[in-house]
This record gives sequence, structure tokens and C-alpha cells, in this order.
Amino acid sequence: MKKVLFVASEVVPFIKTGGLADVVGSLPKYFDKEQFDVRVIAPKYMCMAQKWKDQMQYLTHFYMELGWRTQYVGILQMEYEGVQFYFVDNEFYFAGSKPYGNIYEDIEKFAFFSRAALSALPVIGFQPDIIHCHDWQTGLVPVYLKDSFHGGEFFANMKSIMTIHNLKFQGIWDKKTVMNITGLSPYYFAPDKLEAYGDANYLKGGIVYADAITTVSMTYAEEIKTPFYGEHLDGLMQARSNALRGIVNGIDYKEYDPETDPFIKKNYNAVNFRKEKVKNKVALQEELGLTVDPKKMMIGVVSRLTDQKGFDLIEYVMDELCQDDIQLVVLGTGEERYENMFRHFAWKYQGKVSANIFYSEAMSHKIYASCDAFLMPSLFEPCGLSQLMSLRYGTLPIVRETGGLKDTVEPYNEFESTGTGFSFCNYNAHEMLNTIRYAERIYYDKKREWNKLIDRAMAQDFSWSNSAKKYEELYNWLAG
Ligand code: ADP
Ligand code: GLC
Repeated sequence: MKKVLFVASEVVPFIKTGGLADVVGSLPKYFDKEQFDVRVIAPKYMCMAQKWKDQMQYLTHFYMELGWRTQYVGILQMEYEGVQFYFVDNEFYFAGSKPYGNIYEDIEKFAFFSRAALSALPVIGFQPDIIHCHDWQTGLVPVYLKDSFHGGEFFANMKSIMTIHNLKFQGIWDKKTVMNITGLSPYYFAPDKLEAYGDANYLKGGIVYADAITTVSMTYAEEIKTPFYGEHLDGLMQARSNALRGIVNGIDYKEYDPETDPFIKKNYNAVNFRKEKVKNKVALQEELGLTVDPKKMMIGVVSRLTDQKGFDLIEYVMDELCQDDIQLVVLGTGEERYENMFRHFAWKYQGKVSANIFYSEAMSHKIYASCDAFLMPSLFEPCGLSQLMSLRYGTLPIVRETGGLKDTVEPYNEFESTGTGFSFCNYNAHEMLNTIRYAERIYYDKKREWNKLIDRAMAQDFSWSNSAKKYEELYNWLAG
């Protein structure tokens, strides 16, 4: 039996700001339970829903040294859907209305969390073969593991994996402060270790010290070795390319299932979608005050509203797009600039554009189920889960060919009648608009072809079954 500990800053269903939480919350369920004991440790944030906090059981507590400070570490536990979760409690660090806040606070918060996750292991009596770290918030784990934890027998053979969900966020702060916070010696603050361009960089530390590195799609694993996608670490990614591999994300096929989804008006499946799916569209048009018309092509967006997701392209051609015979439904929060942009267009094109500037699990499911197409023109996309959810619901993705979008959406080929969506290559607003208009033509003029695209989209398998096996192989190889 191999033992694995996931260390992550967010996890579904307890706390989520993006796809990271979906992955950390769903992947552990899909390992072969006979061979792998995979557990998860995450912070216990004060902003978690009370119903989850009520179910967590106090396990133990201790005091831990972090640099010159001594801090309280509480450990709570909870089993959920067959997976053992641990939560690190400290009300000083994990207060606040959101998991992340000012970077200078987060820098100390996640140094604390990373060290606490390791320090807790002997106390709770769980000795993993592999510590699987996710994103910059846990970048110090491989560093600490090789540093102060290395001496004793308990940690001596533990291996670590660093999974990069988004290279853009690295946890960067000045060396002196980080030295002071982490208690790591000056030895670590050199350009071949934690330092990058004069500052301390948590993710870099993780990448340098982890035994293996993964990222969430094959294409992104290649892209990050180039200056355009490398976020200044492309040289490091090249240097570590022997240890780096891409494993595409899956989604929870039980959670995202049009046949059983409790959030949507009318359940449907790959056989009856031709008749049933559209009922969701009509219900959503009514709910959002859009013109009610089952024939109208509805395009959806569910996203963090940030530059990463290509919203400047949408902004640039929004007026042109709104001349077309379409409806656009947006759900998202993020940069004020984009929130207000969509509010403005919803006012300008009433009945046609709906801007839902909030976070809602229920509304996201309704959009995945109701729309005809799903727009995701990302500047970069390590994997992307929204397009996988769309495919699952027979809502055809229109994407830019980057990262996981390129690996998971096969562009429509009208000559061979293949493909599961539509895509364009260059980060160019009119290239995007042309692709949307091409999709419109297929939708309005070649309905049979459109429905065959849906057949193929819904027949795709992006459940975790394939990718969990790839992680199992990696675990076996590392801890073999
Ligand atoms: P990222 O992690 O970069 O934000 P992903 O596509 O990997 O992008 O994952 C985004 C996840 O967050 C999806 O599960 C998506 O449905 C969800 N999501 C994003 N914005 C919202 C929102 N406003 N309301 C509900 N769910 C959202
Ligand atoms: C990040 C990426 C996204 C990916 C998610 C889960 O948030 O932006 O592309 O799907 O992590 O791995």
C-alpha cells in the first residue's frame, strides 16, 4: 500500500476559488483504494461554510517553530466520500473573508501552512511515501522536506511532487523577509535554489527541490519551457524537463452529469439531448430575463474575470458580436474592469446579454447545461475545467488553441465530420469572432452537423479514470 498526502490551499467541497480546488477535491477519490491511501491536508479557513466546520473533528494540537516565532497548530479531520481530510487550524493566519488576501500576508500564511503540514505527520501518525504539493502556496514543502525535516528517520525516504496548476502565481517576496519568516538559512536564497531575479520565490523552491514535477496538460508542459508562457521560469523548466511531465485534468463525472444534475431544470443524456437539452435554455432565458426563444443560439461564459481568460478579446469585439443573432450569458467575478464591461453590455443589449457578476455553483451548472456553445478564448490555460464540463453537457466549446484547451477540444472539421468544438490559434479578437461566426453558421444552417458535434462531445471521456492511472504510475515509479 502506497501512502500519499496531497497538500493544497483549496479543496472542493470545503473551499474553492478555481479549478485547483476541483482537482484536489475530486482526484483522490479515483485512486485504486487497494493500492493507494491518498489523504489531503488543507487550511481550515474561517470563511469556510459553517456546515463543513461543524463536521470537522478535533484531532490534536501542538506548537511549532516558524523562524523565530512559535505558533499554534490545530489539526482537525473529516472523512468525506471515502477520502481522509486533515485541516490545519490557526485563527491568526486563516481568518479573513477569502482564502487569499494581500501577498505579504499570504507569504507568511503559506510558509506556516507548509511547515505545519509536515510537522503534523508524526503527530497524527501518517507517514506518506509521497507528498504531492499543489501550486506556489505549497512550494516550500519540498524545500522544508530536504532541509530541517531530513534528519530523522520518519521523513528520510519521503518523496515530493510539485504540480503546477498555474505558473503565473509564484509567491514572490523579498529575500530578507522570507528568510525571517521561514527560518531557512541564507544557503537557500541563491539563484539555483529559492531565489529568482533577486527575490525569494516559493514555487521555484518547489520546482527545484521536488523529486518530480507535473503540470495539468501535455501542451502546457511544453509551453512553459518557452519565454511566452514561462513566466520568467522557462529556463528552469527546461533545466528540469527530465523531471517534468504533463497529466491532463479530469472532472468529477458524478458531480457533473446532465442526467442526474439536481441544479438543472431538465435532465438529459447523450441519447435524448436533441429534445430535452433545450428546455434548460428556455428556463434560463426566463430566469435571466432574456428573450425567450428556444432557437436562439446561446453562448455561455463561466470564469474568473482575469486577463488569463482572454476577456480583452471579448471586450474588443463585443459590439460586433452583439449584432449577431445570439445571446450571451456570463457568470464570473474578478477584475472590476471586466465586471463593469459585462454589466455595461447587459444594459446596452437587454434581452440579449446577461451579466451575472457573482459566484454560484447552481448557476454555473445551469449555464453548462443550457447554452449551445461555451466561450473560452484564454491567453494561456494550464488545463481548464470549464471546457470539460461543457463537453460533458453537450455544450460545444469555442476555445483558443493553448494549453489544456488544445489537448481537450478537437476542432470541427466539416470535410471529415470530426471534432468536438471550435478553435482558433492566434490571440486575435477577430480571429475569435470569425470562429464564433463559423460556429453560428453551423448552428443555424447545419443543425444535423451541430447535433453530431454534440454526439461526439458527449462521448468524450474526461473523467479521472485515465489521468488517475498516470498519477498512480508516477507514484509507483517514485516510491518503487
Ligand atoms: P481556473 O482554475 O483557472 O479558474 P478552470 O477552468 O480550471 O479555471 O476552473 C474553473 C472552475 O471554477 C470551474 O469549476 C468553474 O465552473 C468554476 N467557476 C468559475 N467562476 C465561477 C462562478 N462565478 N461561479 C461558479 N463557478 C465558477
Ligand atoms: C489553474 C489553471 C486551470 C486549471 C486549474 C486546475 O487554476 O488556471 O487552467 O484547470 O488550475 O488544474
